[in-house]
Amino acid sequence: MTEINSAATLTQDGDVAIITLNSPPVNALSAKVREGLFEGFKAAIASPAKSIVLICEGRTFIAGADITEFGGAMAGPSLFDVQAMMENAPKPVIAAIHGTALGGGLEVALCAHYRVAVPSARVGLPEVALGLLPGAGGTQRLPRIVGVEAALDMVTSGRHVPAKQALAMGLVDELAQEGKLKEAAVAFANKAVAEGKPLVKVRENNARLEAAKGHPEIFADFRKANARKFRGFAAPEANIKCIEAAVNSATFEDGLKAERKLFGELMGGAQSAAQRYYFFAERQANKIPDVPDDTPIRPIKKVGIIGAGTMGGGIAMNFANVGIAVVIVEQEQAPLDRGLATIRNNYERSRTAKPEETEQRVALITGSLSMEEAFKDVDLVIEAVFERMDVKKSIFERLDAICKPGAILATNTSGLNIDETASVTKRPQDVIGLHFFSPANVMKLLEIVRADHTAKDVIATSMKLAKQIGKIAVLVGVTPGFVGNRILGQRQREAQKLVMEGAMPWDIDRVLYDFGFPMGPFAMSDLAGLDIGWVKETSHGETIRDVLCEADRRGQKTGAGYYDYDENRNARPSAFTEKVIHDFIVKTGANPRKISDEEILERCIYPMINEGAKILEEGKAIRPSDVDLVWVNGYGWPVYRGGPMHYGDQVGPEKVLAKMREFQATMGDAFKPSALLEKLVADGKKFSDIKA
Ligand code: CAA
Repeated sequence: MTEINSAATLTQDGDVAIITLNSPPVNALSAKVREGLFEGFKAAIASPAKSIVLICEGRTFIAGADITEFGGAMAGPSLFDVQAMMENAPKPVIAAIHGTALGGGLEVALCAHYRVAVPSARVGLPEVALGLLPGAGGTQRLPRIVGVEAALDMVTSGRHVPAKQALAMGLVDELAQEGKLKEAAVAFANKAVAEGKPLVKVRENNARLEAAKGHPEIFADFRKANARKFRGFAAPEANIKCIEAAVNSATFEDGLKAERKLFGELMGGAQSAAQRYYFFAERQANKIPDVPDDTPIRPIKKVGIIGAGTMGGGIAMNFANVGIAVVIVEQEQAPLDRGLATIRNNYERSRTAKPEETEQRVALITGSLSMEEAFKDVDLVIEAVFERMDVKKSIFERLDAICKPGAILATNTSGLNIDETASVTKRPQDVIGLHFFSPANVMKLLEIVRADHTAKDVIATSMKLAKQIGKIAVLVGVTPGFVGNRILGQRQREAQKLVMEGAMPWDIDRVLYDFGFPMGPFAMSDLAGLDIGWVKETSHGETIRDVLCEADRRGQKTGAGYYDYDENRNARPSAFTEKVIHDFIVKTGANPRKISDEEILERCIYPMINEGAKILEEGKAIRPSDVDLVWVNGYGWPVYRGGPMHYGDQVGPEKVLAKMREFQATMGDAFKPSALLEKLVADGKKFSDIKA
């Protein structure tokens, strides 16, 4: 065995040279790995071996470029040098893939002459999720193998293609038996030599591109079909342009040049910086400073849920999806039956579960009218009833009496004080908040709320369980509205105030939509229903909402709310609403004024950043990036703007502070700057300088 460097070794198995990479955790293409590959291939080519296998140790084949290197100067051989060396090798090069061959990893594998993979492997070009495009020839080689349509899908979705599908697409040449990858790759290499198989250079394979030449409609149709999904993002369009360049360029090299140029533009842009930041934010969130990785986990085999409404049912589906049994308790048979029927209906309508999976999942969810009966053996109970402290307390008293020792007692409250709920039990260490977002079977965010006495293993178990059910979990502290709703409160307040100063709901919605939110607060209210929490009997036209509801404008469901709706639920600004607003303003004795889009944005967004800073200052979130995860995954903050705290850094904390001071001077202490923001600016620092 020859050690090439600390990341690569070269061994020989008969006539086959084997280059093995070992650079934990994911064999990313760091300078060391590139050097190992470059020198490894040089040595293997110079050796008497007749063929070369590239394989990786650890959990995965190369998972891509080393993202931590982005933005800095690249040392050592470039990826292009490595690829040229592989592609031009005078003997067969076989990439042996397990785990994931992603991004630069797949781009390396595409420079091998052949690819062998185990069935559990997945391949893909996920750069789009980092606001990038595959910058090492991926957009030029991929369509040469899989064709233009499949390439467009892969580069713009970033999806990981399972090995079996990759085989059918021609991305992989042979599947190996699980656990026998090296043997299979060596056998393939020997066979390639024995049979004199050609040294396939993907770059020379133009047949699939020729088929797409003269068909610009392929791209036009693809753009049109995905316009909504790609709105606001720069990377999908750049990826499409690269595939277009593959089809329309005179040579492979010309296509590569186009790819390079667009890659450079994305890499230097704010969107990719935000999306790369987001990638690490997701991973950071799992790290809880005082809850070490080896904290014991409580086994969760059966979950109890109180409440068969939309929330309880949605929560139940998460667990059934991963094979965990659930029992839902309701007070009466009719709502229980309705809830269970809705769950079945949701599964049947969803295109993700096959019919037999639906049956398995539905069978895992049972109902009961008796907490005493249903909850005596559950490992976790989640209470999902309406938001009243007295109700929550009486439930927790009963749970304390019923549940076995060590069971986790969770509440799905969206803002009530969990310390207070825990105080009625004799086991506050077992009480935690699990704040799901509606619809709970779809939304990715889970705010895990740590109360004063919550035990560390309860936190560790909840974080792990969240991962198991596919959620992005963020640990937060007890504070009214927790992190998400507390920050939302700032935006809602300003949106309402702006209306009373003369901005129309559709002006505010447009500004926030253009910023990248899926919809603005007023369109959102119309969707949810203006009458949530509105009581007809006690409504006396005291607010704009009262007047709208009294006029039976209760949102989309009644065909009118803040907006008017046509029969296809397309919204139009409403003269009625405009008059209601105008009358209210006149009543207050104020004069409506013209409000700029800039002011709308700053008034809505900067107080959110400031509130995030207050939350951090109070220790209710561990780190700024956790606040950002909450807003990206729970409230539709565009990921290409990172989240409120990252955006605050992009704008500049000094600018946010200056505006908050200005607003405070004219509009009062709702805009009082947080002490943390003041300190950051005084120290010349940014939110990203705060480390947990
Ligand atoms: N660069 C640097 N670090 C990386 C990395 C990368 N490409 N991919 C993963 N890591 C790190 C993670 O930050 C994490 O570090 P910590 O343990 O310190 O938090 C560790 O590796 C393990 O990662 P995960 O927790 O995500 O592990 P997983 O098993 O759940 O998932 C994975 C593994 C599927 C490979 C996932 O990490 C992933 O999707 N990685 C990114 C893949 C990617 O986007 N590749 C393209 C890179 S861009 C590119 O290649 C450009 C180009 O064209 C040249």
